[in-house]
Amino acid sequence: MLTDKFPRAVLAHTPTPVERLDNLSDELGGPKIWIKRDDCTGLAFGGNKARQLEYYFGEAVQDNADTILITSAVQSNYSRTAVAAARKYGMDAVVQQEERVPDRPEEYYKSGNPYLSKLMGAHILSYPEGEDEEGADKAVFEQAEKLRAQGKTPYVIPLAGTHIPLGSLGYVDCAEEILGQIKAMDINIDAIICASGSGTTHAGLVAGLRAMASDIPVYGICVRRDKISQISRVFEKTGKVADMIGHKGIIKQDDIWLDDSVLSPGYGQLNDQVTEAIDLAAKCEGLLVDPVYTGKALAGLIELVRKGQFKKDQNIMFIHTGGAPALFGYPELVE
Ligand SMILES: Cc1ncc(COP(=O)(O)O)c(C=O)c1O
Repeated sequence: MLTDKFPRAVLAHTPTPVERLDNLSDELGGPKIWIKRDDCTGLAFGGNKARQLEYYFGEAVQDNADTILITSAVQSNYSRTAVAAARKYGMDAVVQQEERVPDRPEEYYKSGNPYLSKLMGAHILSYPEGEDEEGADKAVFEQAEKLRAQGKTPYVIPLAGTHIPLGSLGYVDCAEEILGQIKAMDINIDAIICASGSGTTHAGLVAGLRAMASDIPVYGICVRRDKISQISRVFEKTGKVADMIGHKGIIKQDDIWLDDSVLSPGYGQLNDQVTEAIDLAAKCEGLLVDPVYTGKALAGLIELVRKGQFKKDQNIMFIHTGGAPALFGYPELVE
């Protein structure tokens, strides 16, 4: 594997299935839609973060850490899976929750991911900002220092894009896995579509594919920032990941494709396209996508199909990165 030299803690159930979404494909009348079921990675309801955390926990275990600290949104899948991984490895977990989404009902704070993190015994802190990655990291590193002064061995999973993108290695692995699966299934995939938030998944997929000499385009759907800021962030991250896996300089600017047409009004906030995507997935396929990430990514895919971006005889693959627990923080979807 391209990532063999990095310490890794096994957390995700892999390989995850690749399936066809026949009903959704027929409903949209465009290309054949396939799905990579990374919502099925196990680990306390799974999702993409299970793959990413394998490399942080690889380091944490090597460092003999006894406490994991992470900072994220209130309805964060990342925190939920990090807490689960900490418990699996006999560690404590501290979750610093940021206020990223305005005007949410009580369920947002109490159901879904924060509920699960508490169930697994996470110690919850709060950080009042939602758009201050450096500040949030500083606060969480300060907490880590307090723990160290008490004789603990903390390990921080950082947030800001300036840190080494260890988590992307999990998606380099996923890219290798996908190429192996489509070869074994004898199908050609013409495009891959995924949510692009921190860009960790997106960068890992692109770096992994290009390092394996695949030119499949990856369409990143913006779920956090607009296209302009996301392009530079993902380009830089993908370059770093390629370098880490021994393929420095292979990433070109046009490897990074992003669309922000379904982002409005902002991170974690619903719009008509996202509500429609959640509804279509549920009713056509019995498939649960979430309001923050995968519902937006699927809405982006639907927009691309409707705009005629793909031909009818093409095959496209949607990466289902998980997130369904957040549905419980958005009761208005069925009101
Ligand atoms: C379910 C889900 N999908 C997609 C993403 C976005 O992934 P990334 O942060 O790697 O861009 C996240 C991030 O938290 C997530 O929780």
